[in-house]
Amino acid sequence: MKVPDHIAKLKPYVAGKPIEELERELGISGSIKLASNENPMGPSPKAVEAIMGALKNLHRYPDGNGYRLRGRLAEKLRVSRNNIVLGNGSNEIIELLVRTFLQEGDEVVMPAPSFLMYEIMVEACGAKAVKVPLKDLSVDLKAMAQSISGGTRMVFVNNPNNPTGTIVSRDAFEAFLEQIPQDVILVIDEAYIEFVRDETCPTGPDYLDSDKLVVTLRTFSKAYGLAGLRIGYGVMRLALADLMQRVRQPFNTNALAQIGALAALDDDAFLHETVQTVHDGLDFLYEEVDDIGLPYVPSQTNFLLVDVQQDGKGLFEKMLRKGVIVRAMDAYGYPTHIRVTMGLPEENRRFVKALKEVL
Ligand SMILES: Cc1ncc(COP(=O)(O)O)c(C=O)c1O
Repeated sequence: MKVPDHIAKLKPYVAGKPIEELERELGISGSIKLASNENPMGPSPKAVEAIMGALKNLHRYPDGNGYRLRGRLAEKLRVSRNNIVLGNGSNEIIELLVRTFLQEGDEVVMPAPSFLMYEIMVEACGAKAVKVPLKDLSVDLKAMAQSISGGTRMVFVNNPNNPTGTIVSRDAFEAFLEQIPQDVILVIDEAYIEFVRDETCPTGPDYLDSDKLVVTLRTFSKAYGLAGLRIGYGVMRLALADLMQRVRQPFNTNALAQIGALAALDDDAFLHETVQTVHDGLDFLYEEVDDIGLPYVPSQTNFLLVDVQQDGKGLFEKMLRKGVIVRAMDAYGYPTHIRVTMGLPEENRRFVKALKEVL
C-alpha cells in the first residue's frame, strides 16, 4: 500500500477516556469523567425537547442549508446568514478551512500547546504546522506575528486557549491583527468563549468587517451541552463562506443537530446555570488546589490546568483507579500537568478527594 508521507507521519488524536471503557477495563462502577470539557449539567433541556419532537421526521434529509439555525445565529451575532457556515462540530469547520484554503507545503502558524486538531488537520493535507511556544502559559501573539512568512496562508489563535485556559487581551489582539497580511486567514477558535470572565477578552465576530480575513469558530459542544450531537459553526466574510459551502458535504450537519442547536440557542436559563456552575467550580478548585499547594493558572474556560509536580500520566492512571477520569497532558508537552474539567459540585469534591489521596 502506498501512503503519502504526510499521512504516514500523523500521530492519532487521543480523546478523553469514555466512562464505559474505564469501567469495563477496571471492573469498577460509579466513575466520573472530567476529561473532555463537556457540560456537567447534561444537554440543554430545550434542545432535548425539540429533538424528541423531530424524531418522527428522521426519514427526511436535513435542510442542507441550515436555514433556520443560520438565521437565528445571524440575528444573535448581528451578521448575515451568509456569513455563517455550519459544521459537524467546530472540528469540521477546522477541516473545511484546511481543505478549502491550503495546499501542500503552505505554512500555518499556531500556538503550542493548543488544541491538537489544528496540527493534525493541517499536516493531514500536507501543509506545515509552524508551532509557536506559549509564553507563561499564554498565547504569545508577538512571537506568532514574527513567525508569519511569505509561505504562511493561515494562522490559528485559540481564545481562550485549550489546555491552559488563558486569553489574549483585546489590545494585544488588535495589535496582532494589524500585523496579519491581507491574504492570510486568521482563525480565532472561541470554543470556550461563553465561560470567559475577563472583560478584556475580544470576540471574533466584532472583527468581521475589518480588512483582514478573520474567521471565528464557535461550538455547541461546551456551554450548550451538545457535544454528542456534533454541531458548531464558523463566522466569516462571504467570499470565504461561499468557497467552504462548495467544499462541504451537502448534509454535513444532521437534522437533529440543527433542531437541537436552534432550541439550545434560546435556552438562556440553561446557559446561565451552566456558566454559573463552571465559575463556582473554578472558584472552589482554586481554593482547594491552593490549600494543597500546587501551581495553576486561573482559567477563563470550563477546565483547569494543574501542575501536579510529578509524572502527570502516572497520577492520571492512579486517579483512574479511583474512578476519576481527568486528562494527562504529556501529549501537549506538559508531562507534570493534568487538566480537569469542571463538574457538578459533588464531582469537583470527589476530584479533590481523589487528588489528595494519590498525591
Ligand atoms: C479549542 C477547541 N476547539 C474546538 C473543539 C472542537 O469542538 P467540537 O468539534 O465538539 O465543536 C474543542 C473540543 O474540545 C476545543 O477544545
